[in-house]
Amino acid sequence: MGKKLIQVSVNGKSEERAVEPRTLLIHFLREELNLTGAHIGCETSHCGACTVDIDGRSVKSCTHLAVQCEGSEVLTVEGLADKGVLHAVQQGFYQEHGLQCGFCTPGMLMRAYRFLQENPDPTEAEIRMGMSGNLCRCTGYQNIVKAVQHAARLLKEQATATA
Ligand code: FES
Ligand code: FES
Repeated sequence: MGKKLIQVSVNGKSEERAVEPRTLLIHFLREELNLTGAHIGCETSHCGACTVDIDGRSVKSCTHLAVQCEGSEVLTVEGLADKGVLHAVQQGFYQEHGLQCGFCTPGMLMRAYRFLQENPDPTEAEIRMGMSGNLCRCTGYQNIVKAVQHAARLLKEQATATA
């Protein structure tokens, strides 16, 4: 089957590319757009290392086709910071040391970004449940929970400051 032209907004930039219908979003991002922040872990929708945000939903880009993104807005970890200022979730992971090897971190950040919009004031149990689609082999999750709690506090402060 021939290539298909798709138009997709990635981190606010419009991209138009011809892709094979079978091209996975993770390969499109990493190989076509050179956005290597999203990682390839399991390629079976289990680990969450490849998590990105599409039209306001967390999506595992290893099991999503690039052609399914036609007309969509995709946000990757590269688009989280705003003009060099780290997003609250990035600050949370930095401050609470929510990582060790860092392999899971881009997916964790993207899931935390969406999760805190779904639930801005989560309990610890809700954080653990909300982040449960993202696996980490290093941290034991304690500091990841603290990082998300830290980010939730920052987001609340930011919302109060701009209200
Ligand atoms: Fe996509 Fe593991 S690489 S979920
Ligand atoms: Fe190593 Fe999470 S920090 S897998």
